[in-house]
Amino acid sequence: MPATVIIGGQWGDEGKGRVVDYAAKNSNIIARYSAGTNAGHTIVNDLGKFSLHLIPAGIFYSDKKCLITHGVVIDPLKLLEEISMLENRNVDIGNLTISNRAHLIMPWHRIVDELEEKRRGVHAIGTTKTGTSPAFIDKVARSGIRVADLMNKAKFREKIHIILKDKNDLITKYFDGEPLNEKLILQEYEEHANGLMKYVGDTMSIVQEADKRGESILLEGAQGSLLDIDTGSYPYVTSAVPASIAAGACIGVGLGPKSITKVIGVFKSYQTRVGEGPMPTELKDSTGDKLRNQGLEDGTAEYGTTTGRPRRCGWFDGVLANYSAKLNGMDSIALTRLDTLSGFEEIKICTAYKINGKLVNSPPATFDELNSSEAIYETFEGWEEDVSEARKFNELPKNAQIFINKIASLTDVPIDMISVGPKREQAIIVKKLFD
Ligand code: GDP
Ligand code: IMO
Ligand code: MG
Repeated sequence: MPATVIIGGQWGDEGKGRVVDYAAKNSNIIARYSAGTNAGHTIVNDLGKFSLHLIPAGIFYSDKKCLITHGVVIDPLKLLEEISMLENRNVDIGNLTISNRAHLIMPWHRIVDELEEKRRGVHAIGTTKTGTSPAFIDKVARSGIRVADLMNKAKFREKIHIILKDKNDLITKYFDGEPLNEKLILQEYEEHANGLMKYVGDTMSIVQEADKRGESILLEGAQGSLLDIDTGSYPYVTSAVPASIAAGACIGVGLGPKSITKVIGVFKSYQTRVGEGPMPTELKDSTGDKLRNQGLEDGTAEYGTTTGRPRRCGWFDGVLANYSAKLNGMDSIALTRLDTLSGFEEIKICTAYKINGKLVNSPPATFDELNSSEAIYETFEGWEEDVSEARKFNELPKNAQIFINKIASLTDVPIDMISVGPKREQAIIVKKLFD
């Protein structure tokens, strides 16, 4: 039975949380399988607005199992804060399980994230400074600490003692920073261990057994395909392992590729990016400002969920969208934030790049080439109407329909869901996606 991956098709913040929240009602299990506290997924439902960084967006359905799998790096303090926030707002989290194989974000990861960015100077990546990428780097370097270690007091103490010596050398000798105190870290993390203990389990077995029983599994991607370490706009990417593309879901959750039966790509109706790096369709003018601030009234203006940074905004990039659709093997697209485009006289879609005088239809491999790619646009007439109440495709203004059809033809993937507002019910379901 189906395991469905919901994946970001752009540079993150496409509205994955919103789409997962919608889709979760037809799933038995919802699993976050990658990234860390760098992710920020917004859900707006009857209980209000929520920003989740680690807990799956399916948590609002008390009858579903929610998993944070081994592909995620967990900051224990942030997770405990997220749990408290949900409990305080009457969300039942009894169905949450955290993988014992997941790696931990440790205090040195947050410090190194900060110091490394400073050292990069003008070449800074614009990381979230959450320690997420440094935690993944240590995982790959085989010097990470896992949840299972945290649950074993003696083992944890032994590991901290060995690793902290190297980390303090790095912080003090290389970055000229302040050393960390072993005792304080042990005290802090042992408290976290007590708080998290009851949620820890073997998420891999839970998923594999559910898959065998034919249950419906929803795999919640984080970040976006263009932030992926292998296929994204390197080096302006995140260091997550597993990958930030659909293929990473199998690795991050512990299922074989044959278990994945559907890939849903989430795209915004335009382009945003937070952090540094090339963005061929970026608008550094009043149109970009308008895209960013359209949602000021309903709290959906384009400012980062995790860091509050203003998101860079621009027109939909069809070259990158086509690349991303192929990379993920998308079956369907959920197109979000169509309502944000109401009130523009004209709307553009990038259909090709000009690089060194030549037209190309796929993104170049290097940062320099992507940075100097000139976006070639097709211009569409806009629409004035508010579309946030539309629930059927034919209720949308004709110009909006033309715009959506162009995205489907550029990506060669059907647009099966159109989100016209942040709330659960504000969606046009063109074709039933989640059964
Ligand atoms: P994620 O990281 O992909 O889950 O996306 P974020 O939550 O970081 O950012 C998406 C933002 O867009 C949030 O503020 C959502 O509430 C908002 N959003 C999602 N879908 C829609 C939509 O269709 N219309 C509007 N106006 N806002 C939306
Ligand atoms: P969600 O799941 C948007 C970006 C950062 C930075 C780069 C590297 O909410 O879509 P990192 O802290 O990961 O080392 O930063 O990646 N980034 C995101 N941008 N949404 C995200 O997640 C992101 N996760 C990482 O802004 O440019
Ligand atoms: Mg986000």
